Amino acid sequence: MKSASKVAPTIAVIFGGTGDLAKRKLIPAFFNLFLDGQLPETFALIGLGRQSSDSNGYKNTLKQALAKFSRSGSPTEEAWSIFQHSLYYLPSDINDPASFQQLAEKINEIEKAWGSRSNRLFYLSVAPDFIEPITVNLSKTGIASNPEKDRIVVEKPFGSNLETARELNQLLTRTFEESQIYRIDHYLGKETVQNILAFRFANALFEPLWNRNFIEYVQISVAEEVGVEDRGGYYEGSGALRDMIQNHLLQLMCMVAMEPPVTFEAEEIRNRKVDVLHAVRRFSKEDVGKYAVRGQYGPGWMKSKQVPGYREEKGVNPSSQTETYAAVKFRLDNWRWQGVPFYLRTGKRMQEKSSSITVQFRPVAHLTFPSTMSENILPNRLIINLQPQMDIRLRFMAKKTGLEMALTPAEMVFDFNGVKEGGPSPEAYETLLLDAMQGDATLFMRSDQVETAWEVITPILETWESRPSLEFPNYATGMWGPENAEALIARDGHTWTVTMPPA
Ligand code: BG6
Repeated sequence: MKSASKVAPTIAVIFGGTGDLAKRKLIPAFFNLFLDGQLPETFALIGLGRQSSDSNGYKNTLKQALAKFSRSGSPTEEAWSIFQHSLYYLPSDINDPASFQQLAEKINEIEKAWGSRSNRLFYLSVAPDFIEPITVNLSKTGIASNPEKDRIVVEKPFGSNLETARELNQLLTRTFEESQIYRIDHYLGKETVQNILAFRFANALFEPLWNRNFIEYVQISVAEEVGVEDRGGYYEGSGALRDMIQNHLLQLMCMVAMEPPVTFEAEEIRNRKVDVLHAVRRFSKEDVGKYAVRGQYGPGWMKSKQVPGYREEKGVNPSSQTETYAAVKFRLDNWRWQGVPFYLRTGKRMQEKSSSITVQFRPVAHLTFPSTMSENILPNRLIINLQPQMDIRLRFMAKKTGLEMALTPAEMVFDFNGVKEGGPSPEAYETLLLDAMQGDATLFMRSDQVETAWEVITPILETWESRPSLEFPNYATGMWGPENAEALIARDGHTWTVTMPPA
């Protein structure tokens, strides 16, 4: 999130260097940063994995991965011939200190050739069980011990509940300073998500209205078309609440609800965000039944293709109780938001992929027009479409053209793709890796943010775990979730926003 500044000489080390995330996201992100001239000439990437390959074999794998997953497509021979010089592979066993000794030697060899101690970025793209041995071994070799230059990036899931998240934080902070730890939430790297800060704090227009006096409710919806695909094993122990609400959706809520930061500094912004989580009214067990709804998809049709229900997916228990959909009504106890509900929902196998934030303003205070003219009056509404549509839409009332005085809703649209000056949109991982290399933690989660987010959802997790759902599966693939979720919001007289694709 920094304004353009150069990255210092850097060695990036990816634990899980042959894994899915590395191939789909991390390597394409580094390569696109290279194409955009954001990487220093003194840059190296060391992949670590269990496979017994060598650096040449690794390079071939990565080249194929780029062709498949990079937003810039297959690399040109010219670009690849330069980039591939930065790549190294070390077959390794995370539990074996000898592997870390080899890593230390490789780092020393590269830095010796550069003639200086570089920054080192250790990316933990591994299952949670491996974090401890990596941390212990990094500590023993001392290769990540310079708080100014060495950083460690930790992928989600960050714990599986409040207790395990605390343990993980303690484990990491025994070896690293908090300022070295970058807990990633890739939603925060999305262009449209960062734009929420620009929209709110670089414009005078909306901020005076951004409170309980003018806003009736806020909705945050992240709908996915995909099912769990080949991640059944992971997802069974997770579910929508842990996988999406605890991190991505609560972070979006923080960005919408936070107080204006005084400065654009990481700590200031993170403080303001964690204030929101502190203000969330905690749920009692009884509240869970009233304010949280879970769902699980059954079989159905997706884009004219028949697809299995969650319980028939690979790696999933045929009588699984894991939720693939969650909707929660949160309330914030502070001056700005008292009485304004925040409805959050997310689900897999829903009708379409669409993530959006709806800010619904209160109706006009007094109807000036006679009832014959006013029946169409709708309150103002702001929709921030995050993906795949990227725009901001403001609904307002206008006069219909014609001799009669008749009213009709109209929309003002800001199309994010229209802001071309900055070039094409980088992917979230490009932004976040660049930030981590530059030492900017604004878009990363601090330990207290992660723990407070767990704290907020703990009563829901515990209640759901202790009371199996008798209704699962309760929504068919291709629907908008279970009926109870419609009821959750309908009880307050509202409906979930259905965003219209652009004309
Ligand atoms: C991940 C979740 O964090 O986010 C996945 O683990 C989910 O289950 C994904 O599909 C959604 O990310 P995006 O960027 O596709 O909206």
